[in-house]
Amino acid sequence: MISTKQTVKEIAIAHPLSTRVFQRHSIDFCCKGKVALGSACEAKGLDADRIVREVEAEITDTEDSPARWEAQTPDALIDHILTAYHAPLRTELPRLQQMADKVLATHGDRMPEVLGELQSVFTTLRSELEDHMAKEEQILFPMIQAGRGEDADGPIAVMEHEHASAGAALERIRELTGDFQPPEGACPTWIGLWAGLADLEKELHLHIHLENNILFPRASESTGA
Ligand SMILES: [Fe+2]
Ligand SMILES: [Fe+2]
Repeated sequence: MISTKQTVKEIAIAHPLSTRVFQRHSIDFCCKGKVALGSACEAKGLDADRIVREVEAEITDTEDSPARWEAQTPDALIDHILTAYHAPLRTELPRLQQMADKVLATHGDRMPEVLGELQSVFTTLRSELEDHMAKEEQILFPMIQAGRGEDADGPIAVMEHEHASAGAALERIRELTGDFQPPEGACPTWIGLWAGLADLEKELHLHIHLENNILFPRASESTGA
């Protein structure tokens, strides 16, 4: 059913629950998803056949799941993105910011380079994301909802570029946090920050996947319809 020659992105679109497997193994299905599953596994030192079996196990019982956004209208997908991803980010980003500031202020002397850079990368990511969501909500999504896909190529290219930048920030955060493993003796805020950042990565990958790989291509398809 799944082949190692298919790209990670193709598999993620056709079988949304496969993203659980990709997340477990840190396989990028989002900004860098245009590579064959076999190559993606090789690059990570993973057994591709085993990953295929994991994906098949994950999707077997749920092929007809209503969560297959590909089959939904762009309007329904936009509603889902706003409710499931944009709204939570508006409270989660300030919460994580407070924690990152606090951990740096309290424990900065313990890991000055890591905590200083982490706070700075996160602060930039937060402000870029808030700006980015405002542009989607005020410019791009209304264009798609109005069926003006033919005008959306420019804004879509900008959004994709910003997604790639967010993806790079998330990668750096993963490196700085040592794959989100809190150090020995970390305080609860520190542990909570690491867990929150891990969840931010997971949610943002899904969010960007829905936009880049499903919503945007469908918006462009409506061109000339
Ligand atoms: Fe978004
Ligand atoms: Fe976006």
